[in-house]
Amino acid sequence: MPDHFQSPSFPQTRMRRNRRWPWVREMLQETHLSAQNLIWPIFVIEGTNRREPISSMPGVERLSIDLATHAAAQAASLGISAIALFPVTPASKKSNDGAHALDPDNLMCSATRSIAAELGESIGIVCDVALDPYTSHGHDGLLIDNYVVNDATVEILCKQAVVQAEAGATIIAPSDMMDGRVGAIRKSLDQAGFSDVSIMSYSAKYASAFYGPFRDAVGSASSLKGGDKKTYQMNPANSDEAMREVALDIQEGADIVMVKPGMPYLDIIRRIHDTFQVPVAAYQVSGEYAMLKFASEKGAINERACILESLMSFRRAGASCILTYFALQAAEYLCPSSGRVS
Ligand code: PBG
Repeated sequence: MPDHFQSPSFPQTRMRRNRRWPWVREMLQETHLSAQNLIWPIFVIEGTNRREPISSMPGVERLSIDLATHAAAQAASLGISAIALFPVTPASKKSNDGAHALDPDNLMCSATRSIAAELGESIGIVCDVALDPYTSHGHDGLLIDNYVVNDATVEILCKQAVVQAEAGATIIAPSDMMDGRVGAIRKSLDQAGFSDVSIMSYSAKYASAFYGPFRDAVGSASSLKGGDKKTYQMNPANSDEAMREVALDIQEGADIVMVKPGMPYLDIIRRIHDTFQVPVAAYQVSGEYAMLKFASEKGAINERACILESLMSFRRAGASCILTYFALQAAEYLCPSSGRVS
């Protein structure tokens, strides 16, 4: 044997000792992932007993309220903490000002009432606040002279949030990126008697190309007609700006701040987690889902392992919770008794 192997200085620290056996690897694991960390986004359509596939998101379906309620029950039984609802509004109910957002009988509110009645407190119901499911132009706010106006939009968003809270939302999630909306929504909710309803703000929401399949799923892509949301969503090149957005949202009363998309923005999650004492949510968006799903369908990657690894990466970066279309599948993978993967 060559001399240096005998030398007491070769290598004195052997990192592999801590990886030698499954028990030591598990004992020293720094981060854990469980179904409790997951929030499942569900697309809701009109009708009864209806489900529709989404071609750019294989495995994800749009569900009528009865089926969505059933799906939410399944999620709760697997230990998933919350569901996030996204309505697929028929074109006939869309308008320039998105007024249907304030209809207490719209899909979002009806689905919320149905799930709240069926499941009570056993699962959180996240309602998205933004006008894009309801506007004929597909933007998140009021479009005046081809520009999404801020303050008039915020006024409507406040009403939308209250209507959703009245329907039974437990978390209000403004995804619109208007300035000042968190504080205004907090005030409106409090004045309407909903001081217990939380706000999970899409604080660092980037103008990302990874939302493509979602816009197909809710039908806002055709409304947008190739337009983008760069005058309100963030420039993907920016990190300091995300810190300012988060600082403002915390000051305005956000309970949870979100980073979106997820995997391409793990550095932002980490930075927020290290700087602010606030729970961080990550959104593994539709394009990320599609990448993993299509790659595994083609046999390029191991689906189960890659899903769990991607979700673990959010936890490692500092996210408390993760919105993911894989939630149900992942919860089934995660051992329900311990709720953990090793
Ligand atoms: C709309 C909204 C979007 C997503 C969640 N809420 C799309 C957008 O901003 O155009 C994207 C989710 C995803 O891609 O999975 N306010």
